Amino acid sequence: MSVEIRWFDAVEVDDLWEGDILDLEVGGEQVLLVHLSGGEIKAFQGVCPHQEILLANGKWDEDSGVLVCGGHNWEFDLRTGTGVNPAGCRLYEYPVQVNGDKIQVGIPQDGKSHYIRFSL
Ligand code: FES
Repeated sequence: MSVEIRWFDAVEVDDLWEGDILDLEVGGEQVLLVHLSGGEIKAFQGVCPHQEILLANGKWDEDSGVLVCGGHNWEFDLRTGTGVNPAGCRLYEYPVQVNGDKIQVGIPQDGKSHYIRFSL
């Protein structure tokens, strides 16, 4: 059985320029929005899989697509959500759509936590 996705308005398209990242709460969940170089928009869990530090406070390199967490320097490729260092971890990815002038994030209505945690 497929899970129902509920779409929430996150931000105006004009408020997330190419190369920008943004943290925000969407539908009660902490989300990291990313507008990648090349135009694709992604949404991931907003806090680090290591400890609950906001990823948007890390160091973001829009050219490589890699974000370095401000907590302990774990690195994530925001083109895919996978961990670069340490390998093996990943970020939960939400569905995203553009509807008119709004970027919308889809929250699965499955009653589960959309936060992947990872320990070394
Ligand atoms: S909290 Fe992100 S690397 Fe430790």
